Amino acid sequence: MSKRIEVRDLNVYYGKFKAVEDVNLTIEPRSVTAFIGPSGCGKSTFLRTINRMHEVIPGAYVEGEVLVDGNNLYGKGVDPVLVRRQVGMVFQRPNPFPTMSIADNVLAGVKLNNRRIAKSDAEALVEKSLRGANLWNEVKDRLDRPGSSLSGGQQQRLCIARAIAVEPEVILMDEPCSALDPISTLAIEDLIEELKTDYTIVIVTHNMQQASRVSDKTAFFNIAGTGMPGKLIEYDETATIFSNPAVKATEDYVSGKFG
Ligand SMILES: Nc1ncnc2c1ncn2[C@@H]1O[C@H](COP(=O)(O)OP(=O)(O)OP(=O)(O)O)[C@@H](O)[C@H]1O
Ligand SMILES: [Mg+2]
Repeated sequence: MSKRIEVRDLNVYYGKFKAVEDVNLTIEPRSVTAFIGPSGCGKSTFLRTINRMHEVIPGAYVEGEVLVDGNNLYGKGVDPVLVRRQVGMVFQRPNPFPTMSIADNVLAGVKLNNRRIAKSDAEALVEKSLRGANLWNEVKDRLDRPGSSLSGGQQQRLCIARAIAVEPEVILMDEPCSALDPISTLAIEDLIEELKTDYTIVIVTHNMQQASRVSDKTAFFNIAGTGMPGKLIEYDETATIFSNPAVKATEDYVSGKFG
């Protein structure tokens, strides 16, 4: 299921504003990659180009290629809806459908994709996805309760269950723990560790400890000044980025001197 992502000569625009410039990187399957860097350097923007969510914004477009197992997501005739099924996304704030039941939340993505699903299959998929998201034991007796009846950390795991229910190949997470307490954060981090055996995972985080705990590789992005494009400055093994980076700006950032 897990796939290799190759980004080639990628520029990302909002109208005339070039937000991210000339990114080249390869993300291996079955790995966790962290994107770090100061606010506004384009981490979220770049992340959204990996499942074609960026172009949903009017005037927004990209130049370059994003290959998933060799297939360019931006190739002619590629359906962005199919891309988003292949490459799932989890956002900063848990966003379950509040009045929809826990079980229906898990199935929401599958139903959006117009897949008809028999009741027994649906039940099995709900259980499998909630187990995968490490939430099953906490909710198995109240699957018909609304999504909003869960704690923030549980809601975020519900969103992860919803993301994995469509069986994506890649999961993108944009600061998935920033609205969570430390215990829920550790639960999500444990889950990321487990999910890595099946998925290619990319996580944006402002938490340096989190990046060093969960990721195999880290990409440091930076911006030279307001109105300038963000750039990928350094990309390497996480241990190297945090202990022996090649670039001074990376060292300053990971040691807390700016950002
Ligand atoms: N919808 C949008 N329209 C126009 N410009 C945008 C839009 N979203 C983001 N930008 C701009 O693109 C640049 C990169 O923003 P982005 O949100 O990707 O940064 P980020 O690294 O994720 O920051 P943070 O750490 O604060 O989340 C910023 O200058 C931002 O103002
Ligand atoms: Mg962001």
